[in-house]
Amino acid sequence: MTQIIFLPHEELCPDGAVLEANKGDSVLDVALKNGIGIEHACEKSCACTTCHIIVREGFDSLAESDELEDDLLDKAWGLEPESRLGCQAFVNDQDLVVEIPKYTLNHASEDH
Ligand code: FES
Repeated sequence: MTQIIFLPHEELCPDGAVLEANKGDSVLDVALKNGIGIEHACEKSCACTTCHIIVREGFDSLAESDELEDDLLDKAWGLEPESRLGCQAFVNDQDLVVEIPKYTLNHASEDH
């Protein structure tokens, strides 16, 4: 079992969470299964940016992102070097520390 530690996010998990994950699970699925409602507008088909997450620890244990994911991430709000799409980031054998960005692109465009 691998653990994913979610850092506190004001709306989605105000106290943060420590979740158990199996190798091969996507970070998004683990979050959703445990009641952390990360958006997933394209239903996990790597065609939006609403499932954007930032992997603060364990980033290098994930399989590398492909070109399509990188292109989408370029459009994400608050892009960082350790950004991934949650539906494309599959747990390996190392624990992860994950931050959920404050906004998704949808929110950002509403707010600004
Ligand atoms: S849910 Fe759309 S890219 Fe992950």
